[in-house]
Amino acid sequence: MDLIIPGPASKSLGEKIAENLGLPKVNVETKNFPDGESYVRLEENVEGKRVVIIQSTYPPQNTHLIQLFLMVDAVKNFGAKEIVVVTPYLAYARQDKVFRLYEPISIETILKILEKLGVDKLITINLHEPNVLQKFRFKSVNLSAINLLAKYFLKMGLKDAVAFAPDAKAVKLVEEASKILGGGLGWFKKERNRVTGEISMSCEGEFKVEGKNVILFDDMISTGGTTATAVKMLKQMGVKKVFSACVHPLLVGDALQKILGNGAEKIVATDTIPSKVSIVSVASLITETLKKI
Ligand code: R5P
Repeated sequence: MDLIIPGPASKSLGEKIAENLGLPKVNVETKNFPDGESYVRLEENVEGKRVVIIQSTYPPQNTHLIQLFLMVDAVKNFGAKEIVVVTPYLAYARQDKVFRLYEPISIETILKILEKLGVDKLITINLHEPNVLQKFRFKSVNLSAINLLAKYFLKMGLKDAVAFAPDAKAVKLVEEASKILGGGLGWFKKERNRVTGEISMSCEGEFKVEGKNVILFDDMISTGGTTATAVKMLKQMGVKKVFSACVHPLLVGDALQKILGNGAEKIVATDTIPSKVSIVSVASLITETLKKI
């Protein structure tokens, strides 16, 4: 790689990665026009260079996505030799199938645009359904930040805590985490009403959590409904303390208060999305991956 371009949504993460790699960075001039349209301009020449654009696409996700598309198109038009896009959080990932007739598969729409714009490689982290990446021509890597989160809790003295998944989709995550924590794992079954968004959760396994510390792992916390419900259920099951770990802290509205209000001790997330609880950095994870490609 020759140049790092920290996009407006990931300026500080991008700068850390440039520093880790000892690579020059290209600043991006950014503004919004009075009608809300986005403007970006690269402050340096990228001709003949292998560039890495780092831009997470958290809310306002439509703006961050458009900024990403504009940056990719600009580096392409100005002759970059290779374009690597790092989207630590890739928006629209949860619409990964047609749930209700006549819906688009939104994550595929986003990836089609990136492919068409000429992206050569895409690096992302804990994508909700990573199999979608295989449908595209560009090379892709879906990293996992679960080990980093589990190690953080280990350092906090939570060895032997039970890693718990709030739904079936997160079971893979707790399998990873429990290898580090060593206290076993468990999961709930979750159902969400596709129209109202209402959640119902049940425990269908025999999990030994009574009197134990439990850490809930999820790829993202959006409204906090999933984690808050899981915290409440675990408390009713007699756990000692319950903690929450997530990779992407979207934290819509009062998500944090909802989770803490239900009895969680602490919420720990990564900096794929900057937030009050983005304590664990994914900079080293991305740096090591960029060194290898
Ligand atoms: C869903 O399958 C995801 O893995 C998360 O559990 C979910 O998106 C979290 O959303 P919320 O915080 O709104 O319940």
